[in-house]
Formats: sequence, C-alpha cells, structure tokens
Amino acid sequence: MTISSDNPLREGLRSRQVAEACSLVIFGATGDLTHRKLVPALYNLAAAGDLPPGLQVLGFARRDKTDESWRAELEESNRKNSRGGHDDALWASFASGIGYHRGNFNEPEAYRALAGRLDEIDARGGTRHNRLFYLSTAPEFFPVVLENLKAAGLNEPRGGGWSRVIVEKPFGVDLATAQALNGVVNETFQEADTYRIDHYLGKETAQNIMVLRFANAIFEPLWRARFIDQVQITCAEHLGMEGGRGAYYDTAGATRDMVQNHLLQLLSLVAMEPPTDLSADSVRDEKVKVLRSLRPLDSAAVGENVVRAQYTAGAIDGVPVPGYREEDRVAPDSQTESYVAMRTFVDNWRWEGCPFYIRMGKRLPKKATEISLHLKQPPAVLFQKMPQGGESNVLTIRIQPDEGMSVRMLSKLPGTNLQIEPVKMDFRYWSSFGKGSPEAYERLLLDALAGDATLFARRDEVENAWKFIDAIEGAWHAGDRPPPMAEYPAGSWGPTEADLLLAERGHRWRRL
Ligand code: BG6
Repeated sequence: MTISSDNPLREGLRSRQVAEACSLVIFGATGDLTHRKLVPALYNLAAAGDLPPGLQVLGFARRDKTDESWRAELEESNRKNSRGGHDDALWASFASGIGYHRGNFNEPEAYRALAGRLDEIDARGGTRHNRLFYLSTAPEFFPVVLENLKAAGLNEPRGGGWSRVIVEKPFGVDLATAQALNGVVNETFQEADTYRIDHYLGKETAQNIMVLRFANAIFEPLWRARFIDQVQITCAEHLGMEGGRGAYYDTAGATRDMVQNHLLQLLSLVAMEPPTDLSADSVRDEKVKVLRSLRPLDSAAVGENVVRAQYTAGAIDGVPVPGYREEDRVAPDSQTESYVAMRTFVDNWRWEGCPFYIRMGKRLPKKATEISLHLKQPPAVLFQKMPQGGESNVLTIRIQPDEGMSVRMLSKLPGTNLQIEPVKMDFRYWSSFGKGSPEAYERLLLDALAGDATLFARRDEVENAWKFIDAIEGAWHAGDRPPPMAEYPAGSWGPTEADLLLAERGHRWRRL
C-alpha cells in the first residue's frame, strides 16, 4: 500500500511530527502534573530539537508568582524529573519562553488579561496566533475554564491561527458527567481541536500494538477467537495511597481510575479491526467499534464476571504497609475497590466467545503492565507429555517496564529422550534499539502541537467506555444486593476470588 504524501492525515502515526509554534497556556500551572510531567516533557522535546523556536509557555494559576519565581520552581522540579537530565544552558534558552499569568479560574477579567497577553506575544511574531490550552486543573474547574475561554473569545481561531484544547483526566465520573463535560467542550472547541488525554496511548509500547499487528504478516492471521483462547490485560502497581492520593482515589476506585480509560484503550487496540488508513478518525472509528461491542453487564452478570477487592495490611518489598481503609484520607468504612478483575467479551465476528480478562490493582508485588494472548492448544495426538500445566503458545506484550514482547513456544530439550520444555523468543526495546522510550507526555504534547489527535480519546470513545463501566459501578453502588468486597494482603497478587474467576474456564492469571 502506498500512502499519499499530499494528505498529511494519512501519515498519522507513521510520520515524524512537526510541531507548530504557538502559545501553550497551562491551567493548573502550580500543580503536580505540570512540575512532574508537562514541563519536563517540553524540556526533553526541546533537548531533542522537536520544539519550534517560537513556542511560548504561559502558566495560569491562582497563586501569586512572577515569571521569574515560577521559572525557578520549574527549574528545580525539572532537575528532579527530567528523563534526559538537566543542562543549565539548554534550560536557560528553553525557560526564556516561559511566563506566568496569575488569575482565578472563575474570574472573567483574568481571561481578558490573558487574551491581551497572548495578543502581545503574537505581535512579537513567531506564534502566528496559534494557541493550545492545557486543562490540568482539578476536574471541577474544566467547565469553568472552558466557559471563560469562550467568553473571552479565546476558543475561536483567528488571524489564520488555530485554537486547541487538551483536557486531562478524569473525564467525568460516569456517562452523565462525561456527556455534560463533552457538551461544554464541544460548545467551546471543535471536536477536531479537542485532545482528551489518556497517557497510556502515548506509551511507546501501546503505539507499537498497531505496528505489531498490521505491519507483520505472522500474527494477524492468528489474531482471532478461532486461534486465541483468552486474552489477559494486567496492570499491577506496588504503590498505595502515598502523598494524600487517598482523597481522590477513594471517590474513584480502580475501575474508574484505570479501567475506564487506560485498560479499555489497550483492549481496543488489541481487539480492533485494521483501520482504512492511519488518520486520527479512522483509527478511532475502529476503537469505538470495539467499545460498542463489549458485552453489556447487568447486575447479575457483574456478580458473576467482576471481582472487586481492597488490600489489607501487608508488606511491600519487606516493608510493612497499612491496609486500604487505614490509608490517609480514605474512609474507614470505604466501599471503594483498590483492585478489580473482570471477564469481558467483545461480541463481534472476530472475537466471539474469547474471554478478555482485565485486572488492575494497587499494592501488588510489583509495577508491571502487560497484555498476553494465549493461543489454543494444538491437537494432543502426537505429544501427550507436555510440560505440567503448560500452554503451548503465549504472545506477551510488555507495556512497562522492561518494554518488549515475547513469544512462548515449546521445544524439544536436547538429549536422547523426547522431553518438551517451554522456551521464549524475546524482543526488548533496550537491546534492539539501544535507547529507552520517550515519556508518554512528550509524544502527546508533540502530537497536540502538530495537530494529530490519533493518540487522544474522541468523545464517543470516552462515552462508550463509561457506558460499560456505569453498569459495573451501578451494580456495586446502586444495586439491591451488591456483590461483596473481597480482600487481599498488600504485597500479594490479589484476592483468591479473582483466581476462581479464571479457574471457572480452566484459565489462570499469568505470573508476571
Ligand atoms: C493514572 C492513575 O492515570 O495512571 C494512577 O490515576 C496510576 O492511579 C497511573 O497510578 C499509572 O500510570 P503509569 O504511567 O505510571 O502506569
């Protein structure tokens, strides 16, 4: 297939992204995300020569600061958080394009002043009336900021430039709130100019799923229920509720916090059909079809197919840690899950009958995100003495850490007897390419600056994912007889109920 070079959208994921100069306004400039992720990502893009020379970054927040004091704070956090280290000379040139704009999010005057400041920046040349607004505030301010941007006319492109918005997560807490927020977003910005962040899509390994599937001939013919027995998607974290995180987490839980977005996105990439081309909408059309094909769960089905659990006191790396309900800012009688495991089905032609198991948990023994596709067993007529409990073939995609892929297969052990053992073919990013992957936020910021929304969630993706999750949350919180909350000790691989869920069909969770 040739890809026409006169249609930039067709290039999509393939091409080197070319960012356009603009003013990037970060709302929530003093927050943790700006310090830990956004500014270090911009700095590393600058270090790689990927940022256009005229880029201006303006932080918008309530606290009283000056351009200089904010830059000094960012410099300190960049030293700690920058992936590629910190160089004083490079920082000095990068930081010369950084400024601070003090304002309350609900104060129209602050936005009029912002408009004036952006006009001045444009008048100096370089930014060409291009504006990118990054909503990194607490979610209750998303509509407030959007409405004020609109009132100040900042949402409308002008002078031949563009106006785009990036919206951080969480995007709503259920379908109704996501639809309401989408209403405000779409009244303010065109959908094509709206970039809903899901940072898992910016991970190198997540992007590689499409390449793996559609640039190779070896896997795709097998990539269907006819040959695949089950698919597992695991996201394990060893962290608990450090740094006051319990306050947010106890209102969300594992399902809203990670399954609705990151894990359903990974599932969509694994299950989708090949898109007609690599444009943002073609890729997202296929992902939406997967989300729409997820078998809906009524409350009885939630009881049978979903396990929720909380960690009890235990140990991580030998250090004792409290149980979930004893964590800072978590209710002592909390009904919020720190772990969820589910069996779900994609009811379409390709995947009929193949279970997709998803699990996510806090305070598990290690941090690892992995997708594994377990192939059906070959006929047993020839080799009856297979290794104990062994599956013949498993294809594993390691999203993080130790990014890579492996294929498990069976081989004859050298010797005069016929003894069969599993072996592994392994691809590791680091050894194949000699370099680590960029941070997800680098790729995503670059894409938004280049106008490519492929790796951002579209309105219908977010809403269809919520529709699926709402049924589960409804059964837990509004149903007559909510299924019980299981328990697992911190530092273990989750509750036994989750093992039983797989055992029902003769399956087992992959050991990570
Ligand atoms: C965030 C969740 O979206 O993703 C966190 O809110 C989670 O709870 C984090 O820890 C995981 O991201 P990563 O990139 O470290 O896997």
